[in-house]
Amino acid sequence: MSAGNTDNIVDEIKSRCNIVDVVGRTVNLKKTGNNHKGLCPFHNEKTPSFVVSEEKQIFTCFGCGATGDVIEFVKKLNNLDFREATERMAEEYGIEIKDQSLGDDGKKAIIYGINREVAMFYFKSFFDHPNKGQAYMTKRGIDAATLRKFGIGYADEEWDSLYKFFIGLGTKEEALLELGLISKSKDRYYDKFRNRVVFPIINTRGKVIGFGGRAIGEDNPKYLNSPETPVFQKKNNLYGLNLARQEIGKMNYAIIVEGYMDVISLYQHGIKNAVASLGTALTINQAAMIKRYTDNVILAYDGDEAGLAAALRGMDILNEAGCKVKIIQVKDGKDPDDFVKKFGKDAFLKLVQDATPLIDYKIALIRQKCNMETTEGKIDFIKEVTPILKKLKSPVEADAYIKKIAKETKISEGALHLEVMGSTGKAIAQTVKNQLDPIKSKDSNAFLEKTLIKLMIIKSEYIPKIRPYGRVFNIPGCHRIYNVITSLYKEDSEIDIKKLEDSIDQEDNLLLQDILQNIIADKEDIVLEQCITKIKMAELKRRYTEISDILSMTDEDIEKNKIQELTQELIEIQAKIRNK
Ligand code: UTP
Ligand code: MN
Repeated sequence: MSAGNTDNIVDEIKSRCNIVDVVGRTVNLKKTGNNHKGLCPFHNEKTPSFVVSEEKQIFTCFGCGATGDVIEFVKKLNNLDFREATERMAEEYGIEIKDQSLGDDGKKAIIYGINREVAMFYFKSFFDHPNKGQAYMTKRGIDAATLRKFGIGYADEEWDSLYKFFIGLGTKEEALLELGLISKSKDRYYDKFRNRVVFPIINTRGKVIGFGGRAIGEDNPKYLNSPETPVFQKKNNLYGLNLARQEIGKMNYAIIVEGYMDVISLYQHGIKNAVASLGTALTINQAAMIKRYTDNVILAYDGDEAGLAAALRGMDILNEAGCKVKIIQVKDGKDPDDFVKKFGKDAFLKLVQDATPLIDYKIALIRQKCNMETTEGKIDFIKEVTPILKKLKSPVEADAYIKKIAKETKISEGALHLEVMGSTGKAIAQTVKNQLDPIKSKDSNAFLEKTLIKLMIIKSEYIPKIRPYGRVFNIPGCHRIYNVITSLYKEDSEIDIKKLEDSIDQEDNLLLQDILQNIIADKEDIVLEQCITKIKMAELKRRYTEISDILSMTDEDIEKNKIQELTQELIEIQAKIRNK
């Protein structure tokens, strides 16, 4: 594999992976401003001087001087040579290199070259003199600056303008045929794109990989797209990502639309983080490309049936890729292009702001199908909604939806919990236990008990407030002091410290002095509140452990009611913990 040969593969790798993710697998990175920082994996250090730039897709260590791109990182980290590192990455990101003989890569370079020339050809004919393409785009409200930004072109009405031009340049017919730019009929060649506005499709490395052509008249198809070629696979590209990616990163969300014109129109209205899925249902690779820049995706598909179905498939794919997905249904106007033209930027951003989260959207769709007036309809509704809620990773989220649905259907929350959580109660218990574990701490108990004693001594009015939690005094000395304090307590008078000291023995007196001198409880009201919260949390945790233990022993078939009851309690406890 020669260097020139691997260039394309390296480009391909870089366009598909994010150095921050790759480095992040080995180095614990923290975001600092525009960069990510961590301990250098290439030399020993205690303070981080290893910096990764997401924007530039490079790493640099200010300690040892190591620097480079993602390939260099993989190479250094695993002691590979350049070729091995490239191969490893290519394999990971599903880029085929085994068949890529030098011939193939040479061919790709030639294709990129031709595509670039073709884009220039259409671009020039668009701008050189007034024509139907210009008129059409003007009618659609796109201004010259935006047209230039997207490199919009015009394929005229002649049969063979492009053919003649490129044959004149010495380009081979086979190449033009393979790229879907011309076709052959009865020994004559003619241009595929005629009487169309041409949208060059440019990848994130700035290479022209294909074209879309919008019919200016009533020709079919409305949009003609390049066929799959060695450099163009629809499923691996998003229209407009070359221009949108920076803004997507900056805004931390991407808008996915269906059409070329939606991207362009939104862009002209100042919404520059939109990309189009090129008319296909969104693919896993496209989702992964977006995820390189953001986790937040808004789907703005057309309000029609087809748009809806496409949106639904797309949502699942994005969701599985780990994106947070919301959906906009553009109703007042048939697509984002129409909408933004009619109502403007702010109105569109309002739609974005009010976008419906994936789950709500799905539930709403199911609701539409079911006759919610009848019991059967409600049961059908629940049966279809349950699998969706079961997939939710957060029990609290599931609980919130269950509450809503219970209210709507008037079916008891308990029954819904059983339906959704029945067999997963044990799993929930485990999740919650994990969430609660950090609450536990060895010496926090002693500190808590001492603080409570201090509070009672500072203000006797706290004594009746603390009494209900008397059981928390587990340290023998604290327990004894607590008992004496409560026995000395009289309403409206503070604890007499002298009396307290006289009532306890030598050892406990040492403890008392420690409490009086070392425990600081300024802002007593807040401290008391914190203590009580802590106690409640600890008790919730204890109950949680207990429930999870019980659940782990229950027999799902026999103890259905018990499981339901305990699961319900589990959910309530977790909600309390979250809301503390
Ligand atoms: P739409 O039919 O929704 O059209 O196709 P549109 O984008 O609103 O187009 P205008 O506004 O009438 O010009 C959405 C996308 O589906 C793909 C294109 O990528 C288009 O932008 N498509 C559509 C095709 O590839 N071929 C077609 O014949 C139609
Ligand atoms: Mn449209």
